[in-house]
Amino acid sequence: ARPLTVPDLAAAREAGRKLAMLTAYDAGFARACDAGGVDLVLVGDSLGMVVQGHASTLPVTMDDMAYHTRCVARGLRRALLVADLPFQADATAERALEAATRLLQAGAGMVKLEGAGPKLEVIRFLAEREIPVCAHLGLTPQSVLRLGGFKVQGREAAAAAALRADALAVAEAGASLLVLEGVPSALARAITAASPVPTIGIGAGPDCDGQVLVLHDFLGLDSGHRRPKFVKDFLAEGGSVAGAVQAYVAAVREGSFPDAAHSYE
Ligand code: KIV
Ligand code: NA
Repeated sequence: ARPLTVPDLAAAREAGRKLAMLTAYDAGFARACDAGGVDLVLVGDSLGMVVQGHASTLPVTMDDMAYHTRCVARGLRRALLVADLPFQADATAERALEAATRLLQAGAGMVKLEGAGPKLEVIRFLAEREIPVCAHLGLTPQSVLRLGGFKVQGREAAAAAALRADALAVAEAGASLLVLEGVPSALARAITAASPVPTIGIGAGPDCDGQVLVLHDFLGLDSGHRRPKFVKDFLAEGGSVAGAVQAYVAAVREGSFPDAAHSYE
């Protein structure tokens, strides 16, 4: 199969075909994701928590991200590789350009960054320089110190309206994909309907254009942290890593994951 491209994402949404995304941090799991039909593989800065054992994503460095991106890239044939800009690598547009270039040269096809506000200028700067950008709104883990924990966002009307405005703004700035994390299902549905670009949900209900899970959560590993409601152990269901990936991709494609039990109202 030929590698997926950025225009393929918009085409999938147009065709009503849901996008399945998983995180991976090494070549072996990247290969398993790819073989099972995962459309997008994310080298998330979640690696700070699930691989390195930190309490947040803040300690992750660009060297860490470049290393894991190179590892994952070697395991992929078809899936589009998205890599996170780690904490403060996107603090200025110039810094973000340098960091994003490094990730693309390590094998990524798109970079992801958290937030809107001052990040809109960064998104625009990258997009105008031919760097595909995935935005990430809602529960943004790099905001954990301000938020005071990993909490569902956009529950109040004012916060919901602000999130919706941010979603339109990141697309206008040039993002070609939008991750929505930890938001009530109804809000994610409304944002998806209004968004010019495909949305990928995690803890954002069933109505996004695609879904993402963290690999370790999806395999049922105990992270040492409180287990969020949206996490589902697909290894238990699939019986093997390959079976788990297949079960996940099938559930995302048919829209049976996440169900109400794995979403926020
Ligand atoms: O780092 C990560 O794994 C992520 C996903 C949870 C979207 O950003
Ligand atoms: Na991340």
